[in-house]
Amino acid sequence: MQLPEGPVVFTFPTRVVFGDGVARQVGEELSRSGVARPLVVTDRGLVESGLFDRVFAGVRQAVLFDGVQSNPTEADCLAGLALFRARGCDGVIGFGGGSPIDAAKAIRLLATHPGELADYDVTRGGMGRITANLPPMLAIPTTAGTGSEVGRAALIQLPQTGRKSAILSPYLIPNVAICDPELTRDLSPSLTAGTGMDALSHATESYLSSTFHPPCDGIALEALRYIARGLESSVRDGRDAEARRAMMMGSLLGGMSLQKGLGIVHALSHALGAEGRVHHGTLNAILLPHALRYNRPAAESRMVDLGMQFGLGRSADSAGHLIVLYELLLNRLPLPKRLGEVDGLDAARIGQYAERATRDHCLRTNPRPASTAELEELLREAW
Ligand SMILES: [Fe+2]
Repeated sequence: MQLPEGPVVFTFPTRVVFGDGVARQVGEELSRSGVARPLVVTDRGLVESGLFDRVFAGVRQAVLFDGVQSNPTEADCLAGLALFRARGCDGVIGFGGGSPIDAAKAIRLLATHPGELADYDVTRGGMGRITANLPPMLAIPTTAGTGSEVGRAALIQLPQTGRKSAILSPYLIPNVAICDPELTRDLSPSLTAGTGMDALSHATESYLSSTFHPPCDGIALEALRYIARGLESSVRDGRDAEARRAMMMGSLLGGMSLQKGLGIVHALSHALGAEGRVHHGTLNAILLPHALRYNRPAAESRMVDLGMQFGLGRSADSAGHLIVLYELLLNRLPLPKRLGEVDGLDAARIGQYAERATRDHCLRTNPRPASTAELEELLREAW
């Protein structure tokens, strides 16, 4: 099936505007959402690269907030909130990778909800405290991986919890996602690979997760079909427009499917990425084969389904073939192969990482329960 160049518009569960060049429609989408003065939440890199100017040159009322770090903190969100209030903004735009989009969700929440972000941590019952009373939000991803543009979660590092905490609510899903594959054309091969492996891990983990959710299962399998088609081609040649389109679509679908819940890969990568500038998708890429090996006794037949999206057939060892396929994929991509090769991680702290992961919300939906000792063992295997 040939992907159209777009624009294509559909709604599930949010309004999605997809296609080459659709970012130029941001002004129209703001009017449609009734936003006169948006706060554009982004990072310095996107301003320096000229991408911000390219998309927002015609949006004169846009207020720029470029203070989001990778792995955003509560302090980033409070600085954005102060600007939102000082400039009288009436909506937010998350523009960038997962970090700016997540930070935009948190700023949107704080704009109308009392207290601090820790009050809304999902593991502290925060979901029930989030209401529909939120300013409108648009999301414009500039990477193909996080799926945050259609996701209900904001992952923010909070001093009160000492980890990357999830703030989660269906109300936080952006009202509009503007997915323009052209914005990802200049991403480096390693960032393309790392973010692409995040998308792959969303589709994989959500399909294997223990929650019953057939629509998300279907979407996860479809996500993998696009990712299988676009991942290596987009890493090899960033200008391959068809591959970039496939990855933007795979990422979008992966983001929709992860409403079903994730698993051990994300529980561990949240724990490992909680304090550093370690790239989330890269951690997932390294952890995936080890996690599949651990989950295999509880997820054998589902792993066979996943393998079929990559052209693997059904055989007595299909699940094993899927693990090998993910290992080979990692070996061919310009990414570190082991956790020990990743800057900012400390082998002496494996026990702490494992302990932190046991408190992560993603562990609840892993197909096979995992104790702290088992998580520690998995980390040692991947080190
Ligand atoms: Fe992820």
